Amino acid sequence: MSLSGNDGRDGFTSKFGILCATAGSAIGLGNIWRFPYVVGENGGGAFLLVYLGFILLLGIPVMLSELVIGRRGQRNTFGAFRKLAPGKPWWIIGVMGIAAAFMILAFYSTIAGWTLEYIVKSFANAFQGQSSESLAEMFREFHTGIFWPLFWQVIFMIMTAWIILAGVKKGIEKYAKILMPFLVGLLLIMAIRSITLPGAMGGLQFLFKPDFSELTAGVFLAALGQAFFSLSIGMGAIITYGSYISKGNNLTTIAAEVSIADTLIAILAGVAIFPAVFAFNLDPAEGPGLIFHVLPSIFQQMPGGYFFAVIFFVLLAIAAVTSSISILEVVVAFVVEELKISRRKATIMSATAALFVGVFCTLSFSSLGNVNIGGLTIFGVLDFTASNILLPLGGLLIVIFVGWVMMAADVKDELSNAGALKIRLYSAFNFIIKFIAPVAIAIIFLNSIGILKI
Ligand code: PFF
Repeated sequence: MSLSGNDGRDGFTSKFGILCATAGSAIGLGNIWRFPYVVGENGGGAFLLVYLGFILLLGIPVMLSELVIGRRGQRNTFGAFRKLAPGKPWWIIGVMGIAAAFMILAFYSTIAGWTLEYIVKSFANAFQGQSSESLAEMFREFHTGIFWPLFWQVIFMIMTAWIILAGVKKGIEKYAKILMPFLVGLLLIMAIRSITLPGAMGGLQFLFKPDFSELTAGVFLAALGQAFFSLSIGMGAIITYGSYISKGNNLTTIAAEVSIADTLIAILAGVAIFPAVFAFNLDPAEGPGLIFHVLPSIFQQMPGGYFFAVIFFVLLAIAAVTSSISILEVVVAFVVEELKISRRKATIMSATAALFVGVFCTLSFSSLGNVNIGGLTIFGVLDFTASNILLPLGGLLIVIFVGWVMMAADVKDELSNAGALKIRLYSAFNFIIKFIAPVAIAIIFLNSIGILKI
C-alpha cells in the first residue's frame, strides 16, 4: 500500500490495507494515553456513557461522511470541498482541518516523544523495584527536562516524515496485521493483572459506575472532543484516506469496523489503567502524565514485567506513528496537490513547521510552564483548541455538507458503490447527519460557552 505516489494519485491496494491504515490512524495515543486521563479528569463512568453515545450517534456518521467526501472528491481535504462545491466557501473546512492537523501534530509529537523515552527506560530495566512515588518522580524529572523531551520529539517527527516520504509500503500492512492484535493481547494481559491487584475494585467502579452528578457542560464537550480525536475525525484525515480508497470497497463497513475496534481498545486501556490507579492510590485526575506513572507500576507487579514493558512501549510508539502519519498526510496531500510542490519538499516543510510549534508545546512542561493562556498551558491551548473546538466544528460542517449540500443521489452512489451494495441504514444515516448530529454538536458548543443553559 502506498499512500500517494509522486505525481499520479496512488491508492490503497487491498481492503485489508485500508482497514489497517484507517484503524492505524484511529488507534493511537488517543486510546491509550488521552482516553484514560480525560476519563479520569471528567469523573469516570458518566463520562464513559456519554462518550459511547457520541461514538455511536455522531462519530460513526461523521466518519462515514468523511469517507464519502474523500472518495467522491478524490482529492486532499481542501481540494475535495472545492471540487464538490465549486465556487462556494466550503473549502474553509479544509483550512480548519489543516490548522487542526498542525496543532495536533505539535502536541502529539511531544507525547509520542515521551513514549520513546519510556522504551529506553524499559529496556534499561529502570522501573524494577521502584515504588510508585519514585516512578512518579522519574516521570516528573524526565518530562520537565529540556534536552531529552525535545530530542525524542525530533526523532518521532523524523520517523513520521520518513514513513510519509517512503510511502507506506506493503511491509507496514503486514506488520500492522501482526502488531495490532499483539497490542490488544498485551493490553488484555495488563488488564487482567490490573484487575487482580488488591484494591482494584475501586477502579472498575470508577470506570463503569456512572455518577450522574459529575455531568456538566464541560464533561459533554470533553467527551465530544475525545470521541472525535480518538476516531481521527473532524479534520479531514479520513477524507484524505477516503480519497485513496477504491470504488469497490464498502465505506459503511469500514466506518463501523474502525469505530468499534477503536472504542474497544480505549475501554480495554481504561480497564488496564483505573484498577491500578486505585490499587496504587494514585489520582485519576492527575492529567497527561497518568499512564506514565501507572503503567510502569503495573509492569513492576507482573511476572515477565521487563519484557512486557519493552514490548508495550514499542507497540505504543508504533500505534502513535501510524496515527501521526495520517495527521501529516492531511497537510502533505494539500501542499502537493494544491500548491504543486513535490512530495519530498512538502513533507519536509510541513514536518518542520509542525515541529516548530511542537517545541513550544514540549517546553510548556518545563521552561515555558508559566505561560498561561486563559488558565491553560501551551499544551493545554493546542489540545483544547484542536480537539474540543476545531474537530467538533469541522465534524458539524462535514455532516451539514453531506446532508444538505451534496446531492442525495451522489451520497447514495458512494454508499452503495454505484448500486452494487444494498444500503439498509440510509434513512437513519441521512436523518442523523441532516438533523441530529448538527443540532447535538451545536447544543454542546453553546452549552459549554454558557450561551445556552441545559
Ligand atoms: N486518532 C488518533 C489517536 O487516537 O491517537 C489521533 C488523531 C489522528 C487525531 C488523526 C486526529 C487525526 F486526524
